[in-house]
Amino acid sequence: MPSNVEAVHDAVDEPARARSRTVYSANRTLRAPELTLPEALIPDTRLKMDGLAFLSMLPADTFPVAFLDPQYRGVLEKLAYGNEGRNRGRRRSALAQMSVATIMEFLHGIDRTLIPSGHLFLWVDKFHLCEGILPWLKETDLAIVDLVTWDKGTFGMGYRTRRRAEYCLVLQKKPHRAKGVWKVHTITDVVMEKVSQREHPHAKPVNLQGQLLAAVSNEGDCVIDPAAGSFSVLQAAQNHGRMFLGCDLNG
Ligand SMILES: C[S@@+](CC[C@H](N)C(=O)[O-])C[C@H]1O[C@@H](n2cnc3c(N)ncnc32)[C@H](O)[C@@H]1O
Repeated sequence: MPSNVEAVHDAVDEPARARSRTVYSANRTLRAPELTLPEALIPDTRLKMDGLAFLSMLPADTFPVAFLDPQYRGVLEKLAYGNEGRNRGRRRSALAQMSVATIMEFLHGIDRTLIPSGHLFLWVDKFHLCEGILPWLKETDLAIVDLVTWDKGTFGMGYRTRRRAEYCLVLQKKPHRAKGVWKVHTITDVVMEKVSQREHPHAKPVNLQGQLLAAVSNEGDCVIDPAAGSFSVLQAAQNHGRMFLGCDLNG
């Protein structure tokens, strides 16, 4: 039996020991099939087209990872300032908004095109996070398997509170499993990364998205984003030696 002193010592050292002794396999056994694309879809470019049309052109059961950052009004409507698009948030309001029905069509398209056990990283604001997005997943093989909070390191837009976080839901297509699929084990579930929103009012963090896509794909695999905004996922994919295929209404 260890003495109390040894027990306390063991408890203190445990995180350090856990770091050196990795219990998780970094071996990814999942492989994506060879990719054949229609001529109109050129990888590693900023395609200007409708995301639903884009998704309908993709082969089924092919891509290991997708991102979706819908253009929704949830937080703007809840905060109900009444001057949205006039005095404030002009750039945000000018972007094409997606209805829930449209977001569900995007999710169905992504579900169809992901490989079994493939991942979707879905950005949501705090209202959708709290009120729930499960109805959006009806009739898909997608389930929520994790959540990563992005701490933007800056704050903005809040009458009651100053908001400085956004949320990335981790969804996986059936069968839901992590072993042999998720190979990076250093991503914490709160990540701070500053991002310039000069190019796009909703630009997401390139490094965080890079870590996430690297966790669930192999080098050379193709990552999709059908509503890519500033194409932050293109940058993230290139940083990690992945191919990118994506579009935005505004190119
Ligand atoms: C929240 S932003 C994406 C920001 C992006 N994740 C980034 O890091 O820059 C959503 C984007 O969806 C685009 N969008 C809206 N409806 C679309 C559609 N039907 N097809 C493609 N893009 C669409 C908007 O133009 C907007 O740029």
